[in-house]
Amino acid sequence: MRMYDVIEKKRDGMELTDEEIYFFVNGYTKGEIPDYQVSALMMAIYFQDMTEKERATLTKAMVESGDQIDLSEITGIKVDKHSTGGVGDTTTLVLAPLVASLGVPVAKMSGRGLGHTGGTIDKLESVPGFHTEITNQQFIDLVNKNKVSVIGQTGNLTPADKKLYSLRDVTATVNSIPLIASSIMSKKIASGADAIVLDVKTGAGAFMKDINDAKELARAMVSIGKQVGRNTMAVISDMSQPLGYAIGNALEVKEAIETLQGKGPKDLTELCLVLGSQMVVLAEKAKSLEEGRKLLEENLTNGKAFEHFKTFLVSQGGDASVVDNPDLLPKASNLIEVKATTSGTVKSIIADHLGTAAMMLGAGRATKESEIDLAAGIMLHKKVGDSVSKGEPLLTLHSNSKNVDAVIDLIQSSIIVTDEKTEKPTLIYDVITE
Ligand code: URA
Ligand code: CA
Repeated sequence: MRMYDVIEKKRDGMELTDEEIYFFVNGYTKGEIPDYQVSALMMAIYFQDMTEKERATLTKAMVESGDQIDLSEITGIKVDKHSTGGVGDTTTLVLAPLVASLGVPVAKMSGRGLGHTGGTIDKLESVPGFHTEITNQQFIDLVNKNKVSVIGQTGNLTPADKKLYSLRDVTATVNSIPLIASSIMSKKIASGADAIVLDVKTGAGAFMKDINDAKELARAMVSIGKQVGRNTMAVISDMSQPLGYAIGNALEVKEAIETLQGKGPKDLTELCLVLGSQMVVLAEKAKSLEEGRKLLEENLTNGKAFEHFKTFLVSQGGDASVVDNPDLLPKASNLIEVKATTSGTVKSIIADHLGTAAMMLGAGRATKESEIDLAAGIMLHKKVGDSVSKGEPLLTLHSNSKNVDAVIDLIQSSIIVTDEKTEKPTLIYDVITE
C-alpha cells in the first residue's frame, strides 16, 4: 500500500477502507510515514469529510495505537463523562460522587489544568491531604468499595492521537468534525469506559462556538460510540458564560460541596442532573432519564451525595473536617470587588476572558511547569440577565497578590452591562441519545 494512493483517494472524496485507515495511523505512529503526507491527508479529510464507518475505524485504530486500560476487575458498567472544556466547569466534582451514591462505578482518570480551563485533580487537591498517587490496584479496589476514585493519567494512551493532534494544530486542520470526534472518543475508549456521556459546550467560551457545529460533533461522537460497542449519549450545553459562580480550585470545591448539599447554583445543579441522568441510565441503575433524575434529586437533598463526596476524599487522604467546614479551604489574602460602573442588565460575560483572568490570578497554569495557587480565583455575583445597580459588585477577585490591575482591565472589558433587556441564556440546547 502507498500513502500517495490513500491521499489521492480521499482527495477525490472516496471512502477509505479499514486497511487504508490502519495503514496510515500505524505508519504515522511508528514514524514510517512523514508529516507532509499525513498533513495532506488531514487537509483532504478536512474538505471531504469521513463516513460514519470511516470515523469509527479511525477511532479504533487510534485506540489500538497504544495502551488500553483494563477496568474489568471493577464490577458494574463503568460510565465516563467528558466535557469539551469550559470555564469554572465544576460538574465533574459534583457528578462523580453524585452518581456513585446511586451505585454507578466512576473510575476517573483525570489531568491537571492548562491555560484557562481547570483540571479536576488540581481542584480536589485544595482539600488538604487529598492525593491521587495510588497504584492501579488501589484505584480499582477503591472504585469497587466506594464506587468512585480519581487517579492521574498513566500509560501510553493513544499515541496516534497525540501525534495527529500536534500535526493538525500547525496545519489548520483541528477544526474538522470527524477528526475532533475520533480524537476525543479514542481517548475515552482507551481509558476503559464501557459507556460515555458527553457534555458538548457551545457559545463564546467554548471550542464549538456555533450551536449547529456542536450538535454535529455530538452526533458524530454518539455514532462512533455506538459503532464500537460503547453506548454513548450527549448533551449540548451553554458556555457563553461561566457555569455556576466560582472559578478557581478551592472556590469550585466549595461550590461543589454546596451543590452536593442541594444548595448549589441553579445552572450547575441542572447540568449535573441532566448529565447524571444519562450516566445512571447507561449504567442501568434507572430505566429512563426521568427516573434517573428523580433518584439523583433525592440524593442531593437527603445528604447521601454529600456523604459520598466525603468518603471519596477521605479514602484518598483528604481532611474530612474541611469538607464539613469549607471555610477551612485555602483562602486568598486579598478580596477585591469589581463594581458595576453603570446600572442596567448584564448582557454578556465572556467566559474565556474570565478563565484567563483567573489564570492570571494564579488559579491556572500558563505553562505546564507553572505552580498554581489553589486559593486564587473569581466569585461572580451576577450572571447574564441579572439586573445590577451602579456601584454594586459584579464579582470578587480572590488573590494572594496585590497587583491585579491588569486582571481588572481584562474583566472590565469582559462583562458588559447595558440598558437593554437581556434574557437568561438557555442552558441545555439539546440531548442526543441516538
Ligand atoms: N479536543 C481533542 O481532544 N481533540 C480534538 O481534536 C479537539 C479537541
Ligand atoms: Ca463554577
